Amino acid sequence: MEHMPSALPDGEPVPADGALPASALAGATGRPLGFYLHVPYCATRCGYCDFNTYTATELRGSGGVLASRDNYAETLVDEIRLARKVLGDDPREVRTVFVGGGTPTLLAAGDLVRMLAAIREEFGLAPDAEVTTEANPESVDPAYLAALRAGGFNRISFGMQSARQHVLKVLDRTHTPAAPRPASPRPARPASAMSTST
Ligand SMILES: C[S@@+](CC[C@H](N)C(=O)[O-])C[C@H]1O[C@@H](n2cnc3c(N)ncnc32)[C@H](O)[C@@H]1O
Ligand code: SF4
Repeated sequence: MEHMPSALPDGEPVPADGALPASALAGATGRPLGFYLHVPYCATRCGYCDFNTYTATELRGSGGVLASRDNYAETLVDEIRLARKVLGDDPREVRTVFVGGGTPTLLAAGDLVRMLAAIREEFGLAPDAEVTTEANPESVDPAYLAALRAGGFNRISFGMQSARQHVLKVLDRTHTPAAPRPASPRPARPASAMSTST
């Protein structure tokens, strides 16, 4: 099976000022916003996965290092601030934030919270906004989930895939069927305050 290379493909360069064509902004005034933040890192690649993910800690292109796990949150915060400039001062309510991957929970919980805080600062979040991160079962523990909850996340999408060990093995998953369940019958309160999907 062919695997994705651990380097970014060269693509069309983004305009330096991030400007969008007028057609993309037409009719946008007052329309609610949803943010998708992609975190492309994974500990290992699952054979069936078609998503844009990499196991390297640093992603390189022809211009050198383009993104590293260590400063990835900072890079996304810069993008969020750029989005504010590009979209202008038109107040647009953010109703959903979804951090997907890859495995976003390979980053420190504080990194995910920092990215959410930048959206809150720049755009403002609706009071009942749904704020989700994807997570691999083996990549979080109660302390990590509590830190996310305290920072404003209220939903977790766990990639469980199967409750059968032999199926998980075929899929190259590194967790066990038991891992998606909380270790204790009474999970830490902050984590249980989140809604989950698998
Ligand atoms: C891209 S993953 C990111 C979250 C996390 N790393 C995980 O494995 O769950 C999100 C979900 O996409 C699904 N997925 C991955 N590869 C897929 C494929 N080729 N076709 C359909 N769904 C896929 C998996 O079920 C996975 O839970
Ligand atoms: S952990 Fe998730 S995103 Fe990463 S390769 Fe596996 S299915 Fe894809």
